[in-house]
Amino acid sequence: MKVIKHSFDGVIVGAGGAGLRAAIEAAPHMKLAVITKLYPTRSHTGAAQGGMSAALANVEEDNWNWHAFDTVKGSDYLADQPAVDILCKEAIDSVVELEHWGLPFSRLENGKIAQRRFGGHTVKEGEAPAFRACYAADRTGHMILQTLYQKCVSMGVTFFDEFQVLDIKIDDGVCKGVIAYEIATGDIHIFEARAVTFATGGFGKIYKVSSNAHSLTGDGPGILYQKGIPLEDMEFYQFHPTGIYRLGILLSEAARGEGGILRNKDGERFMERYAPSIKDLAPRDMVSRAIATEISEGNGAGPNNDFVYLDLTHLGAETIKQKLPDITDFVRTYVKIEPINEPIPVQPTAHYAMGGIPTDVNARVLSDVTGTVLPGVYSAGESACVSVHGANRLGTNSLLDIVVFGKRAGQSMVDYVSSTKPMALSDNAAEDLTNKIENLMEKDHSLEFSVPRIREELQDTMEENAKIFRSEESLEKQTKILSDLRDRYQNVTISDKGKVFNTELLEAIELEYLLDMSDTTVASALHRKESRGAHSRVDHVERDDKNWLKHSFAFKNGDSVKLEYKDVELGNYEPKERKY
Ligand code: FUM
Repeated sequence: MKVIKHSFDGVIVGAGGAGLRAAIEAAPHMKLAVITKLYPTRSHTGAAQGGMSAALANVEEDNWNWHAFDTVKGSDYLADQPAVDILCKEAIDSVVELEHWGLPFSRLENGKIAQRRFGGHTVKEGEAPAFRACYAADRTGHMILQTLYQKCVSMGVTFFDEFQVLDIKIDDGVCKGVIAYEIATGDIHIFEARAVTFATGGFGKIYKVSSNAHSLTGDGPGILYQKGIPLEDMEFYQFHPTGIYRLGILLSEAARGEGGILRNKDGERFMERYAPSIKDLAPRDMVSRAIATEISEGNGAGPNNDFVYLDLTHLGAETIKQKLPDITDFVRTYVKIEPINEPIPVQPTAHYAMGGIPTDVNARVLSDVTGTVLPGVYSAGESACVSVHGANRLGTNSLLDIVVFGKRAGQSMVDYVSSTKPMALSDNAAEDLTNKIENLMEKDHSLEFSVPRIREELQDTMEENAKIFRSEESLEKQTKILSDLRDRYQNVTISDKGKVFNTELLEAIELEYLLDMSDTTVASALHRKESRGAHSRVDHVERDDKNWLKHSFAFKNGDSVKLEYKDVELGNYEPKERKY
């Protein structure tokens, strides 16, 4: 295989919001490359819809402390409170900065940035839903992505588009660079770089019904996990309440922020029973559980009683056109119904990983529960676990997370590069990877060991056994299934033996990350014997602060997972019963 070598000070892996925001910070101070498996504006940040919260107080009284309170309560008290304070305090300047870079926010009549309601965001620590989410209709993530990319282009940032990073080189505990595969040619590229940020997004493709793009396979967490770095809080995976039935395509919570209502087969507004004070605007874990409960109790709609309705019909055509144009178009295109006149069939969809690569508040990757920093390696956005979302993220806090901690990752790269010397990588640094690829290419193809077969079984069984409600029995069952799938993966084969756009080869490599993400999710969920946030154990229904106010760290231990725990960092808010 052809191997090409490059030398940079810093490399950012991923060109979604977190990667681009890190690049804006780092690029003026070092020789920097952004390596991305997708063209940057196709990154999944572009699929985020409803908004980005910041206590601007443009509509009503607000302050960042109330935002922090809601974030901690929403997290079911698992978030680290000093990190939450940073998120909510820095939110305000982050929005203003994006505005100054040209982000076309929706506006109030007085010209200020418009703000809308979103699940779990309240004024005065729970008094009423808050107008806190800054938005650009229902395409806020798309606008953030375009704004950050244009800023990078204007700064002359170097991009390697459609290059997939497949390995990191760490010698004696120090980062020396990454190895990437050029998708168009099949060539291998060695990137010397002493500072590397992973901003590779989530891994929703471990589930069958997901709002995530096909590209979200846990690449950054997978690469580091295979090098012995733990993954934090993997048992907490968020299901967004309103995915289009069966397809999982996201229908923004903004729909409920604008007054949309969830109804069961009888037309009942069932959230009144589950969250009497804020109803449809309860946090996502509660709403998804409520939908799953309605369905399991026979209150779901349709011939199989397996969905509920999102009703926007009372909002009126003008509000829908102005504020929810994209999602209502998705419904017209994919469901062939008119949301102005008809309720929309929805079901919870795998949406967001609260867990990921452990980092401190400066995006520095941690290699153990005592906080040891891995020099030169950073992570931000969904691939990271800071932890600001704890056991359940509030909607709008992810777009915030990517800019606040993306910026901090860039700053940390600058600090590190300015205090260290360039690292050299040997010309055979890509040998492990080229051997792996050649092995995959040489094996005869067999359907039994093909990528789609193994992946489909993985997604189907994760959906069945490790979704919203889990039990020891379902998780034990899934552990066994994962072990069998892992055995089959050892023999995985591909039919495409070519070099040009060999996406089958890359999917085979991504499948290993999906197995790693599933193993760590299931093992962490099996060991956490309580229910908290998005982790609902039917056999341990109570939250148990005495024993479980801790983060899990999942380490690779051969083909199994070893778990260790670290205390949550508390702050102003003592854990309380979580009522809405
Ligand atoms: O519902 C939404 O618009 C999604 C937002 C988010 O995940 O933060």
